[in-house]
Amino acid sequence: GSTRAPRGRCFATGGYERTQRTLIGCIKESLESAVRDKFSDYLETVDITECANPSLGDYQCSSAMQIFSALRKAGETDFCNPREVAAVIVDGISDTTTFDSITIAGAGFINFKLSDHFILTRLRELGKTVKPTSSGESGSVLVDFSSPNIAKEMHVGHLRSTIIGDALCNVFEFCGLKTIRLNHVGDWGTQFGMLIQFMTDNKVSPDSAVSDLQECYKRAKERFDQDDDFKSQSKQAVIKLQSYDADALRTWKQICDASRAEFQTIYDRLNISIIERGESYYNDMIPAVLDELVAKNVVVEDAGALCIFDDDHAEAPVICRKSDGGFNYASTDLAAIRHRALEEKVDRIIYVTDQGQQKHFRAIFKTAHAAGWGHGGVVFEHVGFGVVLGEDGKRLRTRSGETVKLKSLLDEAEERCLQFLKEKGTDLSAEELSTASRILGVSSVKYADLHNNRLTAYTFSFDRMLDLKGNTAMYLQYSHARVATILRKAPTLDLPLDGLHFENAAERLLAVHLIKLDDVLAATMKELAPSKICDYLYTLCTMFNNFYAECKVIGGENEASRLFLCMRTAATMKIAFSLLGMEPLERL
Ligand code: ARG
Repeated sequence: GSTRAPRGRCFATGGYERTQRTLIGCIKESLESAVRDKFSDYLETVDITECANPSLGDYQCSSAMQIFSALRKAGETDFCNPREVAAVIVDGISDTTTFDSITIAGAGFINFKLSDHFILTRLRELGKTVKPTSSGESGSVLVDFSSPNIAKEMHVGHLRSTIIGDALCNVFEFCGLKTIRLNHVGDWGTQFGMLIQFMTDNKVSPDSAVSDLQECYKRAKERFDQDDDFKSQSKQAVIKLQSYDADALRTWKQICDASRAEFQTIYDRLNISIIERGESYYNDMIPAVLDELVAKNVVVEDAGALCIFDDDHAEAPVICRKSDGGFNYASTDLAAIRHRALEEKVDRIIYVTDQGQQKHFRAIFKTAHAAGWGHGGVVFEHVGFGVVLGEDGKRLRTRSGETVKLKSLLDEAEERCLQFLKEKGTDLSAEELSTASRILGVSSVKYADLHNNRLTAYTFSFDRMLDLKGNTAMYLQYSHARVATILRKAPTLDLPLDGLHFENAAERLLAVHLIKLDDVLAATMKELAPSKICDYLYTLCTMFNNFYAECKVIGGENEASRLFLCMRTAATMKIAFSLLGMEPLERL
C-alpha cells in the first residue's frame, strides 16, 4: 500500500539518555564503560532500576544475566554463570567517587550504594534553587490540549485535557524546550449553521451566556433532526458562513466571543495559559492540503467522499471530505498537522484528548507520515486519557443526568475545602482562609486527576480527593506547609556547607530521593505521564514526614545538615507543585 509505517518514536531512544547526566545517567556511564570493554557485542544498553530493598543498595543492574545468555547463545563458554559476568563488570568500574559499595547478589544482580560524598555534592550542585542539571531533549514541542467546543460548555473531559496538557507543557518548559501551547477550539463546522439559523429564527442574541447558547444548540439539534425545512435552511446558513458572508460571520464571531469569555474564566481559575488557534484557523488551507494528499495517493475517493483507509478502520474509512464536498473534523486535523510539522517546524507534536479519539489520531498520523510531513523525524503522539466516573461507577453526571459543569465542580471543591479548614481549626485570617481554600480546592481537583495513570478511568470523589491522610493534594499541601514553617523559624544558614553529613537513615533516604528529580523529569517527558511527578512528590512528602518524625531539626544534633535538607526539600516540592500546576501553600 501507499502508507509507510510511522517512524519509530525518536524520543524513546535518542537524546537525553545519552547526553544528560541525570543521576541514572551518571551510574549508567560508569557501568557502560565497564561493559563496553568486555561485552560490547553482547549488550546494547545497560539496565538500571531502583533497588526495591534500600538495605541492599540504591540502584540495581540486571544486565549480567542478559549478557550471560547472549554469551551462551553465541557459544561462548568462558563464564559458568551470570555472577561471574557480574564480577568482571564490577572489576571494570573505574569510578571511585560515585559509589560507596558495589555488590553482587542473587543470580547476578549488581547493587550500587551511592557514596554520601556523591549524594551531598549532587545536592549542593543543584544550587540554591533546584534546577534540572541539564535540559532534557533539545528542540521544540507543540501540545494541542484543552480544545473545548464553542457554544457548548467545557466538561470534565476538557478538564482532564486541560490539566494533563498544562502539566506536560510545564515540564517541557522547565527543561528548556521551546513549547507551543495550542487550544484547538471547535469553532467551525456544520453545527454553526443550525445554531445561527435557530438564533435568527428565535431572535436570540448571539452574545448570550454559554449556558443559553448550549440550550439553543440542543434545541437547534432537535429541530434539525425533525424539521426538513429547518435542515435545509441550516445548510444554507453553513454555506453562507463558509463563503464568509458578512452577516453570518458577525453572528459567528459573537457566538465565539461569548464562549471564549466563559472558557477564560475557567482558565483563569486553573491558572492555564494557552494560545487559541481553533479549527477555523485552518479552514482556508484544507482544499490545497487535500489536493496534495490526493496527488500523493494517500487518500482516495470512495462513493464521492475522500477517505483514509487503514487497518484500524477496516469497516468504515475515515472521511476527510464528505460526499457533498463539505469538510469535517478530520479535514481540519489534516491541515493542522501539516501546518504544525511544516510551518511551525517543531520536533514533537502532541495531542491530548480522551482515549476514544486514539484511532482518529492514528489515522491522521499515518496519513501525515505517508505524505512525508514527518520528514526529518517529527514525532506525532496522542496522549489519551480515560473517562471520569461518578461514585456510582458510571460516567460522571449530575443528578438530572447532565454532564457536570466545570464551574460547579470547582465551586464545590473550594467550598468543601473551606469547611474542612474551618472544622480543623486554623489561625488563618478570614482572607487567608478564603485564599487557602481556593488554592486547596483547585490543587485537589488537579492532583486527583493527575496522580492516576492517565489511561485508566478514575472515580471522582470529593471525599477521597480531600482526605488528609490519602495520596491527595491536601496531604501534599500540609507537608509543604510544615517544611515552610520550619524554615521560617530557622536561623539563616552559613554556606558553604562543608561539614554536611548524614547521621541517620531517614536523612540519607530523603537526600537520595531529592537528587532523583532529573530522572523523573526525563521519564515524564519520555512517557508523557504527569503521574510520575505526582508519585515523586508524594514520596518526597512521605520521606520528609518520616525524616521530621525521627529527626529534630532546629536545635537538634546535625542541625546544619538537617536545615540544608529542609531547604532542598522545600525548593524541590515547590518545583514539583508548579509542574503540576498547583500553588504550594506556605501555612495552613
Ligand atoms: N474539540 C475536540 C473535542 O472536544 C478536541 C480537539 C482535539 N484536537 C484536535 N486537533 N483534534 O473533542
